[in-house]
Amino acid sequence: MQSSLNQIQPLTYKVDEQGEISVAGIKLKDLAKDYSTALYILCQETIEKRIQAYKSALEKHYPDFMIYYASKSLNCVAIAQLMQEQGLGLDVVSGGELYTALVAGFKAENIIFHGNNKSAEEIAYALENRVTLMLDNFYELSLIKNYLSANPASEAQVVLRLTPGIECHTHEYIKTGRIDSKFGFNLEQIEEVILKIQECPQIKLKGLHAHIGSQIFEIQPFVDSCAVLMEKFKLIKDKFGIELEELNLGGGLGILYEEQDDPPEIEKIIQAMAEAVEKNCTELGLKKPRLAIEPGRSLLGPAGMTLYKVGNIKDIPGVRKYVAVDGGMADNSRPIMYQAVYKAEIDGKVNQAKETVTVAGKYCESGDILIRDAELPAAEAGDLLVIFSTGAYNYSMASNYNRACRPAMVLVKDGKASIIIERESFADLVQRDKSL
Ligand code: LLP
Repeated sequence: MQSSLNQIQPLTYKVDEQGEISVAGIKLKDLAKDYSTALYILCQETIEKRIQAYKSALEKHYPDFMIYYASKSLNCVAIAQLMQEQGLGLDVVSGGELYTALVAGFKAENIIFHGNNKSAEEIAYALENRVTLMLDNFYELSLIKNYLSANPASEAQVVLRLTPGIECHTHEYIKTGRIDSKFGFNLEQIEEVILKIQECPQIKLKGLHAHIGSQIFEIQPFVDSCAVLMEKFKLIKDKFGIELEELNLGGGLGILYEEQDDPPEIEKIIQAMAEAVEKNCTELGLKKPRLAIEPGRSLLGPAGMTLYKVGNIKDIPGVRKYVAVDGGMADNSRPIMYQAVYKAEIDGKVNQAKETVTVAGKYCESGDILIRDAELPAAEAGDLLVIFSTGAYNYSMASNYNRACRPAMVLVKDGKASIIIERESFADLVQRDKSL
């Protein structure tokens, strides 16, 4: 078990003798003063180190690789730019994510467009920009063909998304690789889809893809998924004479949210994937494809923290003590959606005696609880409470429920903080409303 609280915190997290917390050399209380709360904080060094862990592992075990950052975990202009600077590609899943990437100046040839129900407009948008499509279903193929016949000078690069029939242990809502999934082609449909692709010379099939789920702690499902896809590489070579270039094993590596979580190290999972590709290639007589992966959470999750201010404290003797903060399910919907568990600290009180409390949000819903039965020092109104591991799937799933203003986000590095997403204002909330 490699777990410990300091792997839940960003790499630059520090606590001084007064129990005050800083990140990247900046005190949380200063961030709260300068940017107010609730506030998303992202540690750039943590993101860069995690990217480096993937890159070093791939360079060592499988140098022909491509990392597509899964931007659904956190998509905004600055993060797309950071990913590009780091040499990564981008996985987008909607016209909106693609637009953000293009506004950020992301190179279109390094973007892949996912989705189980892309619209004709989204397909046109992607193809006009020469973005690779992750072909998910026959309906999408018909839309691509419509576009190409109306635009005879255009072409489409596609990768086929398959459901490999792999079970993994994660939350029901974030399992995607099993047969009963809304994503991708069933394995039996491959020959039919390739015949249909071959009818249109403007379509180039580059490879195969499978994503088995998210927040996964096991290595074997990735190895199994690789074996299923490589068998299909062989079938496609034998039946159609096509040697595919790219094998994409998706994202999904889990992170620590609490001490008992035990994700494998990045290098271990990469090594296992690399060995699986080599083994299958040798056994099946295939040339080694480029290995693509699509990590999201494992790059961003541990880099993020959300800083809140404590307000109302409701103590129901013998029942429960609620500590309410100035945020909740609108900025972090994961506890209410997936019963996700988080760890927290109180600035200025780290290492003080702890009590069991429930950290509640401020939204008008009893289920708006951020952490049930947290072990925390005695909080008072005005204290700063920080929740860890919120870098992925927090801002990207935030809502305006109760007409909440989405918090600002700051990126911190070497003692400097820069706003990468402005806090929403009341004016933003009514911007698109129309009077009667
Ligand atoms: N590739 C594909 C095709 C995906 O569908 C996903 C995530 C990823 C890559 C990135 O997976 P990651 O490395 O981040 O696990 N909202 C949920 C997670 C949904 C994941 C959806 N797909 C949550 O908050 O846990």
